[in-house]
Amino acid sequence: MIKAENVNYIYQKGTPFERQALFDINLEIADGSLVALIGHTGSGKSTLIQLFNALVKPTSGRILVDGIDVTAQKADLRLIRRMVGLVFQYPEHQLFEETVYKDIAFGPTNMGLSEKEIDERVRKSAALVGLKEKHLERSPFDLSGGQKRRAAIAGVLAMEPKVLILDEPTAGLDPKGRDDILNTIKRLHEENSDMIIIFVSHSMEDVAKTAERVIVMNEGRIETEGSVAEVFTQAERLQRIGLNVPQITLLTDKLRNAGFNLPEEIYTVKYAAKAIAALVGGDGNA
Ligand SMILES: Nc1ncnc2c1ncn2[C@@H]1O[C@H](COP(=O)(O)OP(=O)(O)O)[C@@H](O)[C@H]1O
Ligand SMILES: [Mg+2]
Repeated sequence: MIKAENVNYIYQKGTPFERQALFDINLEIADGSLVALIGHTGSGKSTLIQLFNALVKPTSGRILVDGIDVTAQKADLRLIRRMVGLVFQYPEHQLFEETVYKDIAFGPTNMGLSEKEIDERVRKSAALVGLKEKHLERSPFDLSGGQKRRAAIAGVLAMEPKVLILDEPTAGLDPKGRDDILNTIKRLHEENSDMIIIFVSHSMEDVAKTAERVIVMNEGRIETEGSVAEVFTQAERLQRIGLNVPQITLLTDKLRNAGFNLPEEIYTVKYAAKAIAALVGGDGNA
């Protein structure tokens, strides 16, 4: 479990450039959760997730991961970085080895594991993100954008973290690359029942398709949080802070207001198609 208690974070404290990025954050994330962190640019998402693996320390307050105080003076940073795997934005920029295999092996190699264990982890992680054996011997630079990103994610997975955090994992990818990443995240969640997965996103559609729980950030504070249904039914509140509920929800809301008997909680095109098909007859497949 992750627990944040009264966390504040101030950049460049004590200088004229001082800027408070997080205000009194309190939250709990249960083991096995698949959580989306959404909010405007500058709302504090990246700062918050960097606190979770002790890349930065809070100005005040504390954060516990699995009961370990990662904010403590004497915290074991190696242990924490292994426990909480952080995939940065555009992680493919950090690929640098001659082969994809070596890149994925980098973390486990530094952990001092045996050749055999490293090999098993590399192959398992590559498979988890949907890379094939043939990709492993290639240069990372010969992969597509989406494949490169999945290789970078595999490198973090190979350390077998208890918590996996991805900062804007779909940024800059085409729709196919985006769906691949979102499906990978879902599959990781299904196959690792205890792992906490947190991903940062701008896209309400992606969140609706993928997450189970949502934390909404606004100007350094938690605006609201809950299940996808609980959060997306607060359309007005989300719109007030400049976030939109998915387009499909707005459409089905309109249809419902026009007298069509559709369920209230529709967040994905797939579900909408089924519900509309059920109404007019048909199976909802295009
Ligand atoms: N290195 C930094 N120095 C000073 N201010 C920063 C730094 N990084 C981020 N900030 C500020 O902290 C706030 C939160 O930023 P960030 O956590 O990156 O938000 P998000 O990821 O939601 O876009 C913003 O106002 C941003 O300008
Ligand atoms: Mg960010």
